[in-house]
Amino acid sequence: MKAFAALSMCLVLFSCNALLSNALDTIATDQSIRDGENLLSAGGTFELGFFSAGDPRKRYLGIWYKKIATTIVWVANRVAPLADASGTLRVTTHGSLVLLDGNGSDIWLSNAPIPVRNPVAQLLDSGNLVVRDAEGSDPNTFLWQSFDYPTDTLVAGMKLGRNRRSGFNHHLTSWKSINDPSPGNFTFQLDPNGYPQELLKQGSDIKFSTGPWNGLRWSGIPNLNPNPYYSYEFVLNEEEMYYRYELLNSWVISRMILMPNGMLQRFTWIDRTQGWTLYISCPIDQCDNYASCGAYGSCRVDTSPVCRCLKGFVPRFSQEWDILDWSNGCVRRNALDCEKDIFVKYSRLKLPDTRSSWFNESMNLQECEVVCMKNCSCMAYSNLDIRNGGSGCLLWFDKLIDIREYSDYGQDLYIRMAKHELVMGLAVSFGSVFLILVLTIRVLQCKKKKMKLPEGDSCENQKEDLELPLFDLSTVAIATNYFSSDNKLGEGGFGPVYKGVLRGGQIIAVKMLSKNSRQGLHEFKNEVLYVSKLQHRNLVKLLGCCIEEEKLLIYEFVPNRSLDSFLFDPTQREQLDWSTRFNIINGIARGLLYLHQDSRLRIIHRDIKANNVLLDCEMNPKISDFGLAKSFAGNETQANTNRVVGTYGYMSPEYALDGVFSTKSDVFSYGVLVLEIVSGKRNRGFRHPDHDHNLLGHAWRLFTEGRSMQLLDQLVENSCSTSEALRSIHIGLLCVQRCPDDRPSMSTVVMMLGSDIELPLPKEPGFFNERNLLQENTSQSQPNEMTMTVLYA
Ligand SMILES: *[C@@H]1O[C@H](CO)[C@@H](O)[C@H](O)[C@H]1NC(C)=O
Ligand SMILES: *[C@@H]1O[C@H](CO)[C@@H](O)[C@H](O)[C@H]1NC(C)=O
Ligand SMILES: *[C@@H]1O[C@H](CO)[C@@H](O)[C@H](O)[C@H]1NC(C)=O
Ligand SMILES: *[C@@H]1O[C@H](CO)[C@@H](O)[C@H](O)[C@H]1NC(C)=O
Repeated sequence: MKAFAALSMCLVLFSCNALLSNALDTIATDQSIRDGENLLSAGGTFELGFFSAGDPRKRYLGIWYKKIATTIVWVANRVAPLADASGTLRVTTHGSLVLLDGNGSDIWLSNAPIPVRNPVAQLLDSGNLVVRDAEGSDPNTFLWQSFDYPTDTLVAGMKLGRNRRSGFNHHLTSWKSINDPSPGNFTFQLDPNGYPQELLKQGSDIKFSTGPWNGLRWSGIPNLNPNPYYSYEFVLNEEEMYYRYELLNSWVISRMILMPNGMLQRFTWIDRTQGWTLYISCPIDQCDNYASCGAYGSCRVDTSPVCRCLKGFVPRFSQEWDILDWSNGCVRRNALDCEKDIFVKYSRLKLPDTRSSWFNESMNLQECEVVCMKNCSCMAYSNLDIRNGGSGCLLWFDKLIDIREYSDYGQDLYIRMAKHELVMGLAVSFGSVFLILVLTIRVLQCKKKKMKLPEGDSCENQKEDLELPLFDLSTVAIATNYFSSDNKLGEGGFGPVYKGVLRGGQIIAVKMLSKNSRQGLHEFKNEVLYVSKLQHRNLVKLLGCCIEEEKLLIYEFVPNRSLDSFLFDPTQREQLDWSTRFNIINGIARGLLYLHQDSRLRIIHRDIKANNVLLDCEMNPKISDFGLAKSFAGNETQANTNRVVGTYGYMSPEYALDGVFSTKSDVFSYGVLVLEIVSGKRNRGFRHPDHDHNLLGHAWRLFTEGRSMQLLDQLVENSCSTSEALRSIHIGLLCVQRCPDDRPSMSTVVMMLGSDIELPLPKEPGFFNERNLLQENTSQSQPNEMTMTVLYA
């Protein structure tokens, strides 16, 4: 009965006599294993013996799982089958394993490099057949081991890779078919060129590349994740480079096999169902086919067609591309210019083929960029290891092929691009008119400089004017993910504002000078010059700027966005209780006072409004957006301009109508803002059923009728200090008086806010009952609260 059961298990075995198995795991030189006899590893996991697969006349020596005898993991004589059941395995006195046929000829031989006195062959419980000295069980002294000669299966502990000293290549070769162990067309092996990667080949054609190891997994096998069955590693040192996995529990049975059809599959044995379960399979989809989209093409399984060129690249032959032949890939839209190039970040990628790459494990990403920038044939760089925020440097020196994009996972790759490309990329999104404008301005600036400075006549001189760190355009582009729309925080008066993260981890806000705004470059330089010299806790801190093709201001990032996003939002408004509001009213006043008086420059902001007040994580206000700011000489108190810029609803009458501005115009805007903060309502667009006044008029009316508290936002009624609220309203009204001379200075405002002194009675506010003509004219076509420019002839 027992023999019968054992027989029925050995499906593909021509003759399998379990009764003869003597449960030995070792043979010495005076012993042998004949067809029908087996070696059983000490723990009973693996068995060695003779088998047939398909053709019963062909006998092979192999190793299989004791309890899954149909699953052969190793074959000795796969190219030279025995013709009958007369084979014998022996260990020679020199320490070689030899497989003899019935006539005593050696069919297969394992060579021993050095003779030993007393060699034995042993089947270890790992499935490794080793030849060693009877005395020595140290793996380092093994004379020979089957693990060095994998067939189509990688079992736990086997190395898939190369010995760098001997050059020996431990790789998988598929069976010809499931019934024929002789070598098939497919191999899976570590390619040692550049940074190593495993390649699945059919003959010499690459079918699939794992991509480089990123510290956690192969870049091209993102679903290789820590799991309860096995752990895995990639080892790269001076001696060897290899991939290997280990089983985490002795009861787990898992193997990786290169199937005759070229599929690389991992199976796990499930006892309950007595079957193998497929765990991972590669290649898994169309995008795993090596270089499926050609050079600089990127494959995405979730798009149709799957191939597209990376951003900044176009099909090499568009006719071919149009008929879905992607093999020739893509080429750059703009040629490179070596020293003037930049690097653009591409995310969520499988890293390209690394056969022409170079790497250094100790360099960081910045050093990596420097090295890549220096060598004009360096096409891209990335971190080598993505763990712990990334380390190491990987550089590519040829066309980038075999890229795919994942919807999650995937890695960052920085690709060398023409600087022009970035400008183009941005210009496309903001309208190419801007580009022309900026270039024109640059040319004009150069000409101006030339006239002033007959000798040092370069635009570079601009840099020396600024006492401020200069940022590279590429650094900022990378920090903001190529000015991606996901990173956009909003639109300021001068253009979009992006959030970014510098490589050191500092979070920044990047203000890009929009190229269609009339106020352009001049105001930009203003802001740089002024703000770089201003330091106050109620002013946003400028960290640096960029004056390349794109004009950028780099600020500290203020986490809570702008005041208007709280104040005028029905749900967010609740977060501003009275003490927070009063703190904001005070903070803005101190920031403005600093601008007007304390800073050595004396500055009029000219665009004080809720959008330009940012809130930090403790809700402290920080005044931002100094683009309109004007410095004025010490004894000067007002000036005229023929260009009125500012925001309706906040602009003082003398400024909006006559272009006259002074610190008192800022005071007016501040007054409007105070009334908005108290009421939670916008001045502009304010409607009341009883009258036609705007918020200022409404506040004035309530004040004269002694009903000021009715102006208060209902949401703060409970948290409110009545005296502070009344005082704030009173001061707000003093600030918005029609005549500039009647308005208090900011120093008076700060004093009035901080004391109980009696306040003068306010006169009628400016602009209180008009939805004035300017407002009506523009409100239809302009987004709310945009900074406006009015030109006077
Ligand atoms: C043994 O040798 C004879 C004569 O050379 C040959 O016919 C026979 O096939 C051989 N047997 C085996 C098992 O190789
Ligand atoms: C292996 O390759 C050869 C030649 O390329 C081909 O004729 C044969 O069909 C292939 N075999 C398999 C199993 O793919
Ligand atoms: C790798 O980079 C480090 C630091 O820059 C350097 O000291 C080392 O020599 C480099 N190694 C190689 C192999 O170039
Ligand atoms: C650039 O790198 C390649 C590949 O490492 C090297 O062959 C070439 O000499 C380098 N060129 C320069 C100018 O360093």
